[in-house]
Amino acid sequence: MSDARPIGLFDSGVGGLTVLDAVARRLPDENLLYLGDTARLPYGTKSPETVRRYARRAVGLLLSRGVKAVVVACNTATALALDAIAEIVDVPLVGVVEPGARAALRVLSALPEADRGAPVAVLATEATVASDAYGRAIRALDPRHRVLNVACPLFVPLAEEGWTENEVARAAAARYLAPVADAGARVVVLGCTHYPLLKRTIAAALPPATILIDSAEATAEALVSLLAPELRRNGGPGGVTHLLVTDSSERLRRVAARFLGREAAALELVDLP
Ligand code: DGL
Repeated sequence: MSDARPIGLFDSGVGGLTVLDAVARRLPDENLLYLGDTARLPYGTKSPETVRRYARRAVGLLLSRGVKAVVVACNTATALALDAIAEIVDVPLVGVVEPGARAALRVLSALPEADRGAPVAVLATEATVASDAYGRAIRALDPRHRVLNVACPLFVPLAEEGWTENEVARAAAARYLAPVADAGARVVVLGCTHYPLLKRTIAAALPPATILIDSAEATAEALVSLLAPELRRNGGPGGVTHLLVTDSSERLRRVAARFLGREAAALELVDLP
């Protein structure tokens, strides 16, 4: 038994390619179909209603292409629209928030008792912060924990520009992360799929003992455990990755390559109804 249908991944833009990369490393035989809604990026500054409408359309397109599972590889879409997406999806569905929250608590519970009282810090877009999706997910798992949400909107354009380790990135990180250090947070969730590109700069702006949680890695792990054996593609040549975007340009190609850590495959331009 082998199911060659692709796994669908969706993000507002190219940030979700950090999730795609983590999925491709764990499931090298699977075909992957990625949709970046680049024409409508950013989602992080939009209203919940708009994000829900865009997200449902994007996932509808993946379903029309016959995906066997859907990964919402965008924190903003997961935070604001996972329930709306679940209404139209009849295949396994995974978002990035719950796996990120679980990973944060797993790490927190392994810390010495004295370090477990500080809040878990969540770095995310303004929309994700306003939704308190991580706070709700973490409290649902363990109501004793406090969450410090910090919006870091400039990290998104910095990651896209490739300015991840220069003086501008360091200045933004120092400004955004001062309250995180002040609160004594030991566990910090990268609650936006763009932020792993700034990992080194973020880590350098925080006390050395701080542990960063990459929700891309945690989501890929969650997908692996959700994919039943009969849904797996077994054998044959390695899986193929296909990238769909709603707006394409030479700049986007360069940015996509930065997120993937290698040359991006051909980008297919699609329109969302
Ligand atoms: N990739 C999105 C996220 O994870 C952020 C980019 C956006 O604002 O659309 O939240």
